[in-house]
Amino acid sequence: MTDTSIKIGDSDYPVLSGTVGPDVIDIRKLYAKSGMFTYDPGFTSTASCESALTYIDGDQGVLLHRGYPIGELAEHSSFMEVSYLLLNGELPSGDELDKFSYTISRHTMLHEQLAQFYRGFRRDAHPMAVMCGVVGALSAFYHDSTDISDPQQRMIASHRLIAKMPTIAAMAYKYSVGQPFVYPKNDLSYAGNFLRMTFGVPAEEYEVNPAVERAMDRIFILHADHEQNASTSTVRLAGSSGANPFACIAAGIACLWGPAHGGANEAALNMLREIGTPDRIPEYIARAKDKNDPFRLMGFGHRVYKNYDPRATVMQKTVREVFDALNVSDPLFETALRLEEIALSDDYFIEKKLFPNVDFYSGVILSAIGFPTTMFTVLFALARTVGWVAQWNEMISDPEQKIGRPRQLYTGPTERHYVPIAER
Ligand code: ACO
Repeated sequence: MTDTSIKIGDSDYPVLSGTVGPDVIDIRKLYAKSGMFTYDPGFTSTASCESALTYIDGDQGVLLHRGYPIGELAEHSSFMEVSYLLLNGELPSGDELDKFSYTISRHTMLHEQLAQFYRGFRRDAHPMAVMCGVVGALSAFYHDSTDISDPQQRMIASHRLIAKMPTIAAMAYKYSVGQPFVYPKNDLSYAGNFLRMTFGVPAEEYEVNPAVERAMDRIFILHADHEQNASTSTVRLAGSSGANPFACIAAGIACLWGPAHGGANEAALNMLREIGTPDRIPEYIARAKDKNDPFRLMGFGHRVYKNYDPRATVMQKTVREVFDALNVSDPLFETALRLEEIALSDDYFIEKKLFPNVDFYSGVILSAIGFPTTMFTVLFALARTVGWVAQWNEMISDPEQKIGRPRQLYTGPTERHYVPIAER
């Protein structure tokens, strides 16, 4: 894996190569050899781990899961198949996929007592607050899958998390609108079951619309994993201490909630609503460019993609499919298309390489399907759970794994002595 080295000060440091992507300087011995740390807020130049799950080339707009391009997976695969791929490394055979889907469908129910947790929340609680609480609480219910040194228990916990997340998310929604919880129905697909638990009511049969089911499944695929982003790094960091997987995923959900990460789809749709009509776009573009205005175009820009986010391309296409299937239209979609067009021809956005990201169009589709904006990040968390558990499993199985412990550049006072309060 290494045949070159680089000199820093008086010492040589190995240069490691992955299968594709930039080489990395192995600085694990830097402090021992030089007495210095590296300084990299936001980890913009730091590889925190070795991983074989997902590869992104941000300049080219490439996203691969286990080598397969996201566009091909979104077009031809299903979320269950992508989940199997992420967890196991290879696409499943027909039998393997049937067995995996069966296993997931058999873990969809929640311990009945967990339903009481919901009642402890205010009805107007943000569903992400409910998700953080209920997912964290799973640790208190599934003790037989919290021994992280046992690969079998790790796999059961992973299956439970993937299977229960749609149930937990749908219940968060039902609670917020005051409707009864709908139990899972295991002969439905993963996406179909989620739609029924969310939009179905006990008073009548719920028919899953196949086009919406397919769009939902594709949205899940597009959010399944995204290498070492903030929430995934949070899951890895929490897991590095040996914390149980349910607690780690709750930590990931908390991180995902922020508007610079998973909360951006909610923020993007709110922004489109605020802009309202295409004639107001220039005003908002001017604000986004104004250094003295904190406003940013939500759904634009990405830490890694300095090109069109490949997920945004699929998402834009999916909006049209959903609109056709539901025979609806939304003027906000026209505003979004126009905003994209204007921004992409503006020097500010061109120079800074700011392109639409996955969140720019997802809000428009989710709102057409019937989800309130507060549920958008919940759907992201639901789908990303497979990535989180796959990354967490990879980390626990890695012999190089250590507890995460970044260092710092200390700029506070040097040692001084306590002064009694009367003398201050
Ligand atoms: N609108 C206007 N200007 C922007 C935007 C934007 N959306 N994004 C970045 N910029 C500008 C910054 O002001 C900065 O300008 P400067 O160099 O003159 O100071 C420059 O572009 C670089 O921005 P950074 O914040 O340093 O870039 P970084 O890579 O750290 O940030 C981020 C990426 C947080 C996603 C940022 O682009 C952003 O805030 N976008 C809006 C929120 C969003 O859509 N988040 C979703 C991310 S995707 C996801 O989580 C699934």
